[in-house]
Parts: sequence; structure tokens; C-alpha cells
Amino acid sequence: MTTPKTFLVTGANKGIGYEIARQLAKTGARVFLGARDAGRGQAAAGKLKAEQGGATVEFLALDVSDPASIESAADALASKIDTLDGLINNAGILDDEGGASILATDLDLIRRTLETNTFGPLYLTQKLAPLLAKAPDGGRVVNLSSGLGQLSDMEDSHPAYSISKTALNAVTRQLASALGKKGVAVNSVCPGWVKTDMGGEGAPRTVEQGADTPVWLVTEAPASLTGEFLRDRKSIPW
Ligand SMILES: NC(=O)c1ccc[n+]([C@@H]2O[C@H](COP(=O)([O-])OP(=O)(O)OC[C@H]3O[C@@H](n4cnc5c(N)ncnc54)[C@H](OP(=O)(O)O)[C@@H]3O)[C@@H](O)[C@H]2O)c1
Repeated sequence: MTTPKTFLVTGANKGIGYEIARQLAKTGARVFLGARDAGRGQAAAGKLKAEQGGATVEFLALDVSDPASIESAADALASKIDTLDGLINNAGILDDEGGASILATDLDLIRRTLETNTFGPLYLTQKLAPLLAKAPDGGRVVNLSSGLGQLSDMEDSHPAYSISKTALNAVTRQLASALGKKGVAVNSVCPGWVKTDMGGEGAPRTVEQGADTPVWLVTEAPASLTGEFLRDRKSIPW
């Protein structure tokens, strides 16, 4: 009998993160459901367990914009598990007003967005690297990025969010190089435009479609696939 895999999904109380946690729990894995609000996190973990009898889903208090919260969560995880098979850095914010221009964007908004979308995933991965490096089949890290972070066709739109996701892609490349030596694969994913609170009602994609590539990367993709930016299981330009 093989040991069930263990995963942490950040910002998993709703949206794409919740669906990633749901799909991973369905594989029989032990899933830590990260959320910054205890009430919302516990409710989401309870809903998953009710939906999938026997699923191993545990709420983990984790505000990725707060270094002290990242440290507490990493300590809590290290006291419960010896290895981590996959970390899905999903938590994110999009606080640019519609139509906002780089020429008028408040620098504090960019700083705040970077704290959650870029520094959070980086610091959490630093803290969890020792557990990921011990994963028997090689640890996997997936950073939920966005087509809005793609430099190849970037325009003056959602500047704080775009800059944070481009920087997250740089974090992916740096971590892939550093962690490759420890057998850990690191990739960025654009989930497409997905119908969630962030994506809005007009988005054409379902959360199932948005979650597909992140789940595939941590469960089935070859360990040699690292340092890439993917959408629909295929590499796309940075
Ligand atoms: N939807 C799209 O079309 C789309 C497209 C491209 C990329 N993405 C990316 O996909 C990821 C998920 O997006 P989504 O559409 O599912 O968004 P969502 O529905 O707004 O959900 C975002 C999740 O992140 C959590 N979160 C925000 N700040 C956090 C923090 N500081 N610490 C911990 N959790 C935090 C939220 O928690 P609360 O409930 O507490 O707010 C929520 O659970 C994001 O990284 C996003 O940038 C989405």
C-alpha cells in the first residue's frame, strides 16, 4: 500500500484554491486547506469532508501577507508531517480598479499586492523547502500566476496585479533553479479567466478547468517539468 501524498493549498477557502483542494482530496491525499480567516477556512474544510466521506482535509491558519503567520503555519506543518509532496501557492488579490493606469497607480497598492501575490509565495516556499525536499517522488511547487503577468503581450492594465504576477514568475524561475538541486519542481500556471469572486460572472472558464493544470502538475506531471509557465498543461511564453 502506498503512503497517501500530502499537499498544502493556500487561499483554499473558495474559488480555484477550494477546487484544487477538492480535487486533491479526491485522490485520497491528505490536504491542508490554508485560509486567512478561521471561520471561512474551517467551514470550507468541513464542506469538503461532508462532500467526500473519509477525505483527509485539515484547515491551516495562514495569511500569506503576514510573515509571522507563514512562520506559525510552517511550524504547525512541521509538527504534523515529515514530508510535503506539493505546495500550491494559490492565494491572491486583485485590487486594481477597473481601467486603472500605471500612470496613476498608488505605489502602496503595488506594495500591498506584492506582499500577498509575490512575497507570500516566496517566503512560504523558503520555509517549506526542507519538507518539500524530503518528498519521496520529488516535491512540487505551483505558483498561481496570470496571463496578466505575461511580459510578451503586456499592456497598461491592472498594473499592481500584473507587476506582482510578473515578479511571481521570476520567483518561479529562481526557485526552480535553486530547488532543482533538491529534487523539487517549481512552475507557474495561468488558470485562464475563471468564474470566481476574482474573475467575475463574465468569465468563460469553470473552477474545474482552472484547477486542472495545478492538480496535474502536483500529481501526474513528470518531475523533470520545472521552471515553466503553463496554461492547459502546455508551456506558454513568459
Ligand atoms: N479567476 C481568474 O480568472 C484568475 C485568472 C488568473 C489568475 N488567477 C489567480 O488564481 C488564484 C485564485 O484566484 P480566484 O479566482 O480563485 O480568486 P478568489 O475567488 O478571489 O479567491 C482568492 C483566495 O485567496 C485568498 N486570499 C487572499 N489574500 C490572502 C492572504 N493574504 N492570505 C491567505 N489567503 C488569501 C482568499 O481568501 P478570503 O476569502 O479570506 O478573501 C480566497 O480564498 C489567484 O492567485 C489569482 O490571482 C485567477
